[in-house]
Amino acid sequence: MSEKIRVLLDEETVEKRICEVAAQISEAYKGKEIHMICVLKGGVFFMCELAKRITVPVTLDFMSVSSYGDDTKSSGVVKIVKDLDQPLEDKEVLVVEDIIDSGRTLSYLLDVLKRRNPNSVKLCTLLDKPDRRVVEGVDVDYCCFNIPDEFVVGYGLDYAQKYRNLPYIGVVEFE
Ligand code: PRP
Ligand code: MN
Ligand code: MG
Repeated sequence: MSEKIRVLLDEETVEKRICEVAAQISEAYKGKEIHMICVLKGGVFFMCELAKRITVPVTLDFMSVSSYGDDTKSSGVVKIVKDLDQPLEDKEVLVVEDIIDSGRTLSYLLDVLKRRNPNSVKLCTLLDKPDRRVVEGVDVDYCCFNIPDEFVVGYGLDYAQKYRNLPYIGVVEFE
């Protein structure tokens, strides 16, 4: 089976929106420091673009929680592949994701993080598919785009580990 990529959100649109959300976050955290947690691997491109444009002090840590493997559908099983290096005690934690789909990954992760006594935990995502949610309690604090239920790639998002490096968001069309 071969696939084609149709552009859904072009590079300029994505960058402009990331700047807006970065400004919103910078304003909300004025006088504070943000401890950003990138959810690997999908969140890495968005985290870099976002972090560069935030005007309050930022520290970074990385966690890998995988549920999709190489499939286009969530297995429902969340696995910690790599844990954080630093404790979260008293920090203003901002979790950065590429996409919230069923919400299973973040529901699990937010639970784990909140038990480590951070001062606050907020969630920022590049894309959200609110229609696909199967779990409750995943509140998105900052979102760049709500998108319809299509399989998207680029800006960190993969199909069988490919296409993460596309500088835009595209829809995979199977033919
Ligand atoms: C994808 C995506 C989110 C999660 C969203 O990660 O990057 O982390 O799935 O899906 P959910 O809301 O249904 O849980 P994936 O498990 O594919 O790992 P990856 O980031 O390494 O691609
Ligand atoms: Mn992911
Ligand atoms: Mg994936």
